[in-house]
Amino acid sequence: MFQTGSFKFRNISDGRGNLTAIEGGVDIPFDIKRVYYITKVGEGIVRGAHSHRALHQVLLCLEGSVRIRVFHGEDQEDVWLRSPTEGLYIGPWVWREMYDFSEHAVLLVLASERYDEADYIRDHDAYLAEMKQIFPD
Ligand code: TYD
Repeated sequence: MFQTGSFKFRNISDGRGNLTAIEGGVDIPFDIKRVYYITKVGEGIVRGAHSHRALHQVLLCLEGSVRIRVFHGEDQEDVWLRSPTEGLYIGPWVWREMYDFSEHAVLLVLASERYDEADYIRDHDAYLAEMKQIFPD
C-alpha cells in the first residue's frame, strides 16, 4: 500500500565513459511523463517534506550524494543515494524529505504525472490526518 523500493540500473561502460538508460514501464514500473532535477542545494538545506496522493517517482543522484528520508505512518527509513545507477522508487502516500546534499549533488527525479500542486500534501499534520481517514485501522 505504501511503497518504496530500490532499483539498480545497468551501467554501460566503455573507454568513453558510462551510460545508463531508463525506460518507463520497462526499467521502472510507470511511464515517465515528467523529469526534473535539483542542483546547487546548500549545506543544511532540507527539501521535499511532502507526500503525493497519486504520483509515482524514482529518484537518482547523478553526481555526489543525498540522503532521502521516507516515512509512511509509523515506519521511517533513511536511504542514501550515491550512484547514478541506483534509483529510489517512492509511491503515493509516502512522506519524503531530502537531506545532506553533497557539494555539486545532482538529484534527478522521474515522475509518472505532470506537475499538479493539487496532488501534494505539504503539511505533515494534514498528511497524518488524511492517511488516517483513507487508511483507517
Ligand atoms: P518544491 O516542491 O518545493 O521542491 P522540493 O520537493 O524539492 O522541496 O518545488 C519548488 C517549486 O517548483 C514550487 O514552486 C513548485 C515548482 N515545481 C514546478 O513548477 N514543477 C515541478 O515539476 C516541480 C517538482 C516543482
